[in-house]
Amino acid sequence: MNLSDNKATLSFSDGSPSVEMPVYSGSVGPDVIDIRKLYGQTGMFTYDPGFLSTAACQSTITYIDGDKGELLYRGYPIEQLATQCDYLDTCYLLLNGELPNVQQKKDFDHLVTSHTMVNDQMQYFLRGFRRDAHPMAVLTGLVGGMSAFYHDSTDITNPEHRHIAAIRLIAKMPTLVAMAYKYKIGQPYIYPKNSLSYAGNFLHMMFATPCEEYKVNPVLERALDRIFILHADHEQNASTSTVRLCGSSGTNPFAAIAAGVACLWGPAHGGANEACLNMLEDIQRMGGVAKVGEFMEQVKDKNSGVRLMGFGHRVYKNYDPRAKLMQETCKEVLQEMGLENDPLFKLAMALEKIALEDEYFVSRKLYPNVDFYSGIVQRAIGIPVNLFTGIFALARTSGWIAQLNEMIGDPEYKIGRPRQLFTGPVARNVKPANER
Ligand code: SDX
Repeated sequence: MNLSDNKATLSFSDGSPSVEMPVYSGSVGPDVIDIRKLYGQTGMFTYDPGFLSTAACQSTITYIDGDKGELLYRGYPIEQLATQCDYLDTCYLLLNGELPNVQQKKDFDHLVTSHTMVNDQMQYFLRGFRRDAHPMAVLTGLVGGMSAFYHDSTDITNPEHRHIAAIRLIAKMPTLVAMAYKYKIGQPYIYPKNSLSYAGNFLHMMFATPCEEYKVNPVLERALDRIFILHADHEQNASTSTVRLCGSSGTNPFAAIAAGVACLWGPAHGGANEACLNMLEDIQRMGGVAKVGEFMEQVKDKNSGVRLMGFGHRVYKNYDPRAKLMQETCKEVLQEMGLENDPLFKLAMALEKIALEDEYFVSRKLYPNVDFYSGIVQRAIGIPVNLFTGIFALARTSGWIAQLNEMIGDPEYKIGRPRQLFTGPVARNVKPANER
């Protein structure tokens, strides 16, 4: 970051001495006011619940322009990565800062492919869960549990450990998500098949059975790979910030990523794709497109507590570029599966059309986000609704690791420790129980 010749001066109406703070510029995007000395100079904290106006770190990984609806991974537009690269290219890019050349790609793909199996003991973790456990509960346990197996890659201060932990997590997430699915439906686990692509192997582990050969559909394989690319990273979102804060204590990468999985589960974040599809199915049950107007009235009624899931975004105040690509992928998959007239897709398109013309949404700059179409695509591929967020976690693992490693590699990093504005009771003495 570069010191700007601009400075920020904070003055106080009570005549307290004003404070000057440096302003820094990045390569693109908003400048930042460095408040690190503010408490020391004023005895005051800044106040920013939800961190809407706070840059928690500097990063070179992902840039979002919310007003333009732009998303860049290491400077490459998501539209180019999603159409010209595959997910493992994207993982390499996020981890290393550059796209792989032909030899680097060959080596990286081989490295990931040769780490897809998990320790066989891990299957006994699953047996402890109820069959109807939510897959995200299982995945949170399995990912955290990895730190019980891979002791040779838990020292985050060792770059080699960080590298092999990154490879293990990227390679094994599909295996773990597929195991959580197979456990739930009572089918045997399917071992990874190293002759398949990353996405093809995931489809194989999800839908193959020991009883017959499973043939990967190339259209679904490509669609899933694109879904992984679109979900790989997204700047300092809630789950990535969780991974950074968790990792800042020096804990091992598996524990930090498990914290990210847990955070992503929430319906305001990664759980929105599951919530969005459930919303579409509810409207369909109520009468489909004919009921959209009534549903939208509910959404606009603050007291209803109803939100249009898959719409709105903390940063995008324009169309989420991932949603556009997801809609295209949706059309390709529905066509391949002979579901061109899928009622839920038609319902989603109708909802989007109405929302984009409705003053309530227009005035609040609410547009479809990545979750609006992703559920329909995954459902058409045959993925169960409650596994959607597990797929999101699988894809976001590469971004989480890249962000975690960037933080650990930053000489300035220290354990995160936000402060507070205390509004509770001031010091008082305990009274005997019979006087309370
Ligand atoms: C992801 O951060 C990331 O980058 C996340 C993510 C990633 O890749 O990591 O992009 C993934 O989490 C995408 C978002 C998925 N969530 C949903 O689709 C859930 C539905 N959307 C929201 O709940 C909401 O839009 C948020 C949480 C996403 C963003 O909320 P903000 O920016 O805090 O906006 P807000 O809640 O302050 O809302 C501003 C106004 C409010 O109305 P007013 O009080 O001004 O009258 O817009 C309204 C909100 O009520 N609003 C919605 C709405 N989202 C916001 N009203 C109806 N439906 C919605 N979806």
